[in-house]
Amino acid sequence: MKSFLKFFLLLIVIVLVGVQFIPKAAKNQSTKMETMAIDQVHQVPPSTISLLKNSCYDCHSNNTHYPWYANIQPVAWWLNDHIEEGKGELNFSEFGSYSLRRQYHKLEEIKEQIEEDEMPLESYTIIHQNAVLSDTDKQEINNWASNLMDSFQHVYPADSIHRKKSK
Ligand code: HEC
Repeated sequence: MKSFLKFFLLLIVIVLVGVQFIPKAAKNQSTKMETMAIDQVHQVPPSTISLLKNSCYDCHSNNTHYPWYANIQPVAWWLNDHIEEGKGELNFSEFGSYSLRRQYHKLEEIKEQIEEDEMPLESYTIIHQNAVLSDTDKQEINNWASNLMDSFQHVYPADSIHRKKSK
């Protein structure tokens, strides 16, 4: 039994060392000018953009602040997966390149995700406690998103979006 345990521990060590050789994807860090960033193309009050940067940008922008353990496999792989998936759904750094219709729907989804406490992801807030949004924070983001959505009204005739919304 004892030698089995030793063998098992050794096996774990070998696997953990081995996976360090899995190549890491390039980091999600860009130095490009963010001309299409949401706060470049729309009015976002400074306190609201700080909330988004603090709670969402690690997975929904072109710049992630990596913790030290992001260099360790399989964590690196796992984080990269979240970032790729998160960015694929919504990228605040490129928000302005979406069609207005898409932007509108993304704002709608942002409100939904926040109201339902789906975002920021729980696996993230366990470690990043400061990314948890208070009720006031949620209200602030939701009000901002609603106002921005209303400002898109001129793009859509009242019958397309607004009637759908009130149904
Ligand atoms: C730890 C990474 C992470 C953080 C932080 C994070 N998200 Fe996400 N987000 C994801 C991933 C992964 C997905 C895609 C899978 C899913 O929907 O769960 C996603 C999806 C979304 C979607 C699309 C949902 C849908 O069903 O279409 C929205 C909107 C969104 N996130 C908003 C936010 C907002 C707003 C914040 C900050 C308050 C935030 N996210 C923080 C990882 C993250």
